[in-house]
Amino acid sequence: SLKSYHVSEELGFVLSDPLETLPPYYMPWMDIALQIPELVQSHELRIRINKMPLLSSRFLQKHRELRLARLALSMMTMGYIWQEGEDNIVEMLPHNLAIPYWEVSQRLGLPPILTHADSVLANWKKKDVQGNLELLITLPGGDSAEGFFLVTLLVELAGAPAVTNIPNVINGVRCGDTEAVATALEAISQSIQAMTEALKWMHEYVKPAVFYGVMRIFLSGWKDNTCMPNGLVYEGVQTEPMAYSGGSAAQSSLLHCFDELLGVKHKEQSGAFLTRMRKYMPPSHRQLIQDISLQPSLKSFVQRQGSERLNEAFQDCLTKLLAFRNHHINTVSRFITVPAARARQRTGSDGELISKAPTALEERGTGGSGYMTFLKTVRDQTKGTLLPET
Ligand code: ALA
Repeated sequence: SLKSYHVSEELGFVLSDPLETLPPYYMPWMDIALQIPELVQSHELRIRINKMPLLSSRFLQKHRELRLARLALSMMTMGYIWQEGEDNIVEMLPHNLAIPYWEVSQRLGLPPILTHADSVLANWKKKDVQGNLELLITLPGGDSAEGFFLVTLLVELAGAPAVTNIPNVINGVRCGDTEAVATALEAISQSIQAMTEALKWMHEYVKPAVFYGVMRIFLSGWKDNTCMPNGLVYEGVQTEPMAYSGGSAAQSSLLHCFDELLGVKHKEQSGAFLTRMRKYMPPSHRQLIQDISLQPSLKSFVQRQGSERLNEAFQDCLTKLLAFRNHHINTVSRFITVPAARARQRTGSDGELISKAPTALEERGTGGSGYMTFLKTVRDQTKGTLLPET
């Protein structure tokens, strides 16, 4: 059942009821984590973190405690590294942050860098009785930062029905139940369409100049990044630097599940990047993707059954997935490609903001991929999986 993969019927991969506070012992962490934007602005975050006591992680017991601790420590780490932008980079994370961060990360099976599982899946609470959401911990960028993470969360929530229907597809194939498979695929394609609708909110809630000029660097990592070619030393953990990729939507398990289910194969560079990103997901979610990939081919089943309804339902899933990826490419042009071009020319009313953006991120996504080639290759592979028109 999906429960054993830590997937919920209602929320999919999103963590249910994240904790909002840690035991009082951990106040020194939360005090800082809740003020990252202010402390970055005043150039005090590094000083505050340097003075923080070294706390033991052993009083963290439940999964939700570990997730909140990791969220706080991850956000503090990003703030610490990128406080001064591309200038004045530090190549060592101090031991009083690095040691507990390393331990908590080991226990959760995640790498010691901010991931989608922290900043989105475990970073929400209900704001009011209407069910509006807000973040627990945020980064510089004000409303645009909040908007970026919350819209991404809405995309995850919109995808939840698709995830919960995957077992219905698999069981249907196993029993040879054409109608059951078609019904489940219809629910999946609807849910993928809802993801595209949710992604459209990005335009409303996030300002490209703020995203590009202020926020983005805080998501970037220390692998495939010319600013930190050697990686980062986690003091007290290991003397050699270690390299980890920055945040990427490729760390969301949703599209990995759909690709495995529908038989969308990724090759070469883009395939390698996607495979590597699975290590940046909670292990139970990674396992679900793996288990879907071991199932007999859905596409062959569809082709064997020769049912018009089933054919159409399968095709529709791919069409909707293609539309999602196309819309994602548009979104990325607006939030990265266009501001990057303007930053190079130093023009426009927001010129000042975007010209402060990191040059290392003009050509690359925060996850380190050559983002446009990557996104288009992945999109084209989706197109290539469509059934031949009859
Ligand atoms: N991966 C996104 C970027 O490159 C967040 O900006």
